[in-house]
Amino acid sequence: MLSYVLEIGGADIPMKISVLGGGTIGSAIAEALHKNGHEVTVTRRSVEKISQLAKIGIEVTSRNDKAAEDSEIVIIAMKPYDALAVLKDISGATKGKLVISMVAAVKERQIKSLIPEATVVRAMTNVAAKVGGGFTVYCSKNLTEENEKKVVKLLECFGETEKVEEKYMDALTALGGSGPAYIFTIIEAMVYGGLKVGLPRDLALRDSYQTIMGAAKLVAESGDHPSQLKDLVTTPGGVTIDALYELEDSGIRTAFMRAIEAATDKAKIISDALENFDGQQK
Ligand SMILES: NC(=O)c1ccc[n+]([C@@H]2O[C@H](COP(=O)([O-])OP(=O)(O)OC[C@H]3O[C@@H](n4cnc5c(N)ncnc54)[C@H](OP(=O)(O)O)[C@@H]3O)[C@@H](O)[C@H]2O)c1
Repeated sequence: MLSYVLEIGGADIPMKISVLGGGTIGSAIAEALHKNGHEVTVTRRSVEKISQLAKIGIEVTSRNDKAAEDSEIVIIAMKPYDALAVLKDISGATKGKLVISMVAAVKERQIKSLIPEATVVRAMTNVAAKVGGGFTVYCSKNLTEENEKKVVKLLECFGETEKVEEKYMDALTALGGSGPAYIFTIIEAMVYGGLKVGLPRDLALRDSYQTIMGAAKLVAESGDHPSQLKDLVTTPGGVTIDALYELEDSGIRTAFMRAIEAATDKAKIISDALENFDGQQK
């Protein structure tokens, strides 16, 4: 297969990328990389389950070692125990390569101990990466300036990206990694609200997601605090305050705070349980 380099924004970006673990996240990011012109290979044991990727020109295989060997950047997107076992197996194939882990709860140090000759980046994205709408945070102790440029350009295929301290990773997993599930719940709830007051289903769905996208865009682009923007919408004695009254009465804010705290705690529990796993037993 042809290997080439693409010049994007002044940084030379290696184009051969393997995504080990073509499940929900692995398939989403593989599609995003493919759409951005990269040459992508995706692995999983049941390759027949990713035939839709093969149809759009992504190479699919069950050989992690070969996929890693043949690529310049390796991304791993498996569940933690699978990822650690696979990394241990393919250690030799990652020598001198950039390895980006999308795996929740596994610390950079632990990944590095299994693939000591690779440059390790720990990242966390979300499923919106599939359509370039993700937010990917990453951390790494040993990135050269050149490698950092490559990492940023690659992660920008998934949407926005930001470097963070590793101590925030569990909380960011709970907030942005799992976040789409919370927003899907809100969209679903808004649609139900629309149905309850007689809106056609399709119209209720479109009105719900467009409203969420528009509100998010306004927060991002205006730089105003959400509470200021909320006040703008809330006319004294108007319609919105009645809805906000019901939402506050249902404890919506504490529900979100508890949800994100619970998910962060869970990520920490998993991380602690993984601490002494050496990639050997399952
Ligand atoms: N889902 C999300 O929204 C999300 C968001 C952020 C981060 N993450 C993180 O991303 C990771 C993957 O999550 P996911 O939701 O995508 O899980 P998933 O859908 O279960 O995908 C994991 C994939 O890994 C493959 N796999 C397991 N062992 C393998 C092996 N030895 N060789 C090759 N492939 C193997 C599995 O396929 P086979 O069984 O066919 O091999 C499976 O398709 C997790 O660490 C998760 O925390 C997920």
